[in-house]
Amino acid sequence: MDLGLRGKVAIVTGAANHPPDYPHPGQGESTARLLVQEGAKVVLADIKAERGAALAEALCAQGHEAIFVPTDVTQPSDRTRLVDRALDAFGAIDILVNAAGCHSLDGKGTGNSFPNILEEDWDLMYNVHVKGSVFLTQEVARRAMIPQKSGRIVMVSSLAAHGKFISTAYGTAKAAISWFTLGCAVALGKYGIRVNCVSPGLVLTPIYRDVELKDSPITPQFEAMMKADRMLGLDRFGAGTDIAKAILFLVSDLADYVTSVDLNVSAGQVYY
Ligand SMILES: NC(=O)c1ccc[n+]([C@@H]2O[C@H](COP(=O)([O-])OP(=O)(O)OC[C@H]3O[C@@H](n4cnc5c(N)ncnc54)[C@H](O)[C@@H]3O)[C@@H](O)[C@H]2O)c1
Repeated sequence: MDLGLRGKVAIVTGAANHPPDYPHPGQGESTARLLVQEGAKVVLADIKAERGAALAEALCAQGHEAIFVPTDVTQPSDRTRLVDRALDAFGAIDILVNAAGCHSLDGKGTGNSFPNILEEDWDLMYNVHVKGSVFLTQEVARRAMIPQKSGRIVMVSSLAAHGKFISTAYGTAKAAISWFTLGCAVALGKYGIRVNCVSPGLVLTPIYRDVELKDSPITPQFEAMMKADRMLGLDRFGAGTDIAKAILFLVSDLADYVTSVDLNVSAGQVYY
């Protein structure tokens, strides 16, 4: 089936996290890999410059079209340079996937949960997830998608936006992204631009690498408990590719009539 992605230009943020000692790539990297397989040209953006450059090189060596632009999405000049480089390299931007994200300053969630939220953690969560996604989307919309009167945008929210983790800096930032998606879809619909978001449940990605088996909920014991209590609809945690497939659907022609949707991609996880 042709997904209508051949020749399309896609920016994917948070696209470069697959440490050699971790089995699963992140959602952004997984999305970039699926996009190039469908014939899209990808612009990888991440703060991890070495990994991003290596991924772009590896994709090009496989015959795909990819560039990496070192980007901190919280920085206005980086966002502008990212759009400049994408337009210089490929002449258009058809797809934007805002997947950049992080958990907390110390990687353990300390300072992320009320009543112990630290202002530094609050600022980080809002700068990366909300400000980064909102202002990059605005720049891409103004400079590429509105003039060309077409575009597909996907935000990465979280089940944390819809459940008990709403009392964390992370959860409230993700809730802001879910709600921004709806308003953005309404504002951009008249230009032929579709805007959706995915809300993944717990996904096995490198974001947990430093906290695994410590404070992260993703421990073998936690997974066993969820299975025993039938809280995992499909009997396993997801991987980056599981979420990437849903993102691919949303940016493809198959979703031509789908906009302002917040798609739960959690295989029925109910841990709230
Ligand atoms: N893993 C989960 O359980 C889960 C669940 C729901 C939502 N999410 C969200 O999914 C998205 C992707 O995360 P992931 O799980 O694939 O983890 P990941 O660590 O593999 O990917 C996140 C990427 O974002 C990059 N990044 C962080 N700060 C950045 C910045 N300022 N500018 C540019 N890039 C930056 C990181 O370097 C990393 O490559 C994130 O927004 C995360 O919050 C993750």
